Amino acid sequence: TIQTVHGREILDSRGNPTVEVDVTLADGSKGRAGVPSGASTGIREAIELRDGDKQRYGGKGVLKAVENVNTTIADALKGMDGADQAAIDNKMLELDGTENKSTLGANAILGVSMAVARAAAIAKGQPLYQYLGGADAHLLPAPCFNIINGGAHADNSVDFQEYMIVPVGAPTFRESLRMGAEVYHALKSILKQKGYNSNVGDEGGFAPNLKANIEAIEVILAGIEKAGLKPGDDVAIALDPATSELYQDDGSYLFYKSDNSKKSSTEMIEIWESWMNQFPIVSIEDGLGEQDWEGWQQMTTKLGSRVQLVGDDAFVTNPAIIKKAIADGVGNSTLVKVNQIGSVTETLAAISDSRAAGYTFMVSHRSGETPDDFIADLSVATASGQIKTGAPCRGERLAKYNQLLRIEEELGSKAKYAGKTAFSRPVT
Ligand code: PGA
Ligand code: ZN
Repeated sequence: TIQTVHGREILDSRGNPTVEVDVTLADGSKGRAGVPSGASTGIREAIELRDGDKQRYGGKGVLKAVENVNTTIADALKGMDGADQAAIDNKMLELDGTENKSTLGANAILGVSMAVARAAAIAKGQPLYQYLGGADAHLLPAPCFNIINGGAHADNSVDFQEYMIVPVGAPTFRESLRMGAEVYHALKSILKQKGYNSNVGDEGGFAPNLKANIEAIEVILAGIEKAGLKPGDDVAIALDPATSELYQDDGSYLFYKSDNSKKSSTEMIEIWESWMNQFPIVSIEDGLGEQDWEGWQQMTTKLGSRVQLVGDDAFVTNPAIIKKAIADGVGNSTLVKVNQIGSVTETLAAISDSRAAGYTFMVSHRSGETPDDFIADLSVATASGQIKTGAPCRGERLAKYNQLLRIEEELGSKAKYAGKTAFSRPVT
């Protein structure tokens, strides 16, 4: 049973406050969790409670959320069974009483939810991935390394937010990490050679001032080859242009960081199609904006049988929105971010709904992170087959990849690396 729940304000990877929670059970088992935070957030995400007091951290303090953890939530959960995750999460939803967790804050609720799961796993003597996923959990995800950062994650001329490499041809997770790191370093030397800077953005990817959005893919392909690997067979490309950030009230997409041109939905779909025809792209996330549901339907009809179309801002890990997407033929894959919905139980529901509909799902970090590695275990627990948690650079990104190395080592011969299979599309 839960004995204490204690929250505190810590800083995340961008130097902004976030919530950390410690949960202690009566048998002495302790769980700790840190809450991530996005920059290009979806409009329908659960509410991250911030103090708004401009005298502290520019209004970004989380003392109210911490107080909610230490008073309302701590009082209500004391004595509850730590192993009953659903009852605990439901109790917090009830205390909050809103659709979007605006009373207590999704940051407060999620921190407690994850810390409870950790403490309960320890009490049961199980690693977290087995506690959440059962004794048979053994699938290591293909990592999507975000090695060029643009959009809201970097001060550069690139409109699209994330250019990722996926070592689909690696035999093991360990080898996929090596391939990812080797391409990363090869890319760095290519950027330098071309006279670009190699400073990194929020997720550890390089943030050069490229001449065009497409050039990011060209330099990445050169990096893959320089590392002695084959584009496509060994290392595929995944994109998250995060186009909700580009969407304008008139229904167009504004390339505000490069040439200020405007594109219609149809033109955006044409860009993706032409890129898919030229490059080994296995996944496109938020290829259209969260506000452009009809565009999403057209994009899915046109490209959905050929490529993974992931809803991030479009779905916000929300089971109700995912159900609507499935019914409306929007996308074919769900991005899973624990803090978009704000509890472990609802995250697992979003995953099982996606899976039941034949949607793939990618477990994801946020651009603001802590060293918390919960999502590494979550990806193995749910056999997601794919994870994105930044470049192989910056401690808060490596925390997740390194945890996957440990899990693979612990599983030994039982471990299986998802690789290509994670992205195979049903033949239609
Ligand atoms: P965010 O970006 O964490 O800043 O929202 C990540 C993403 O868009 O996938
Ligand atoms: Zn995204």
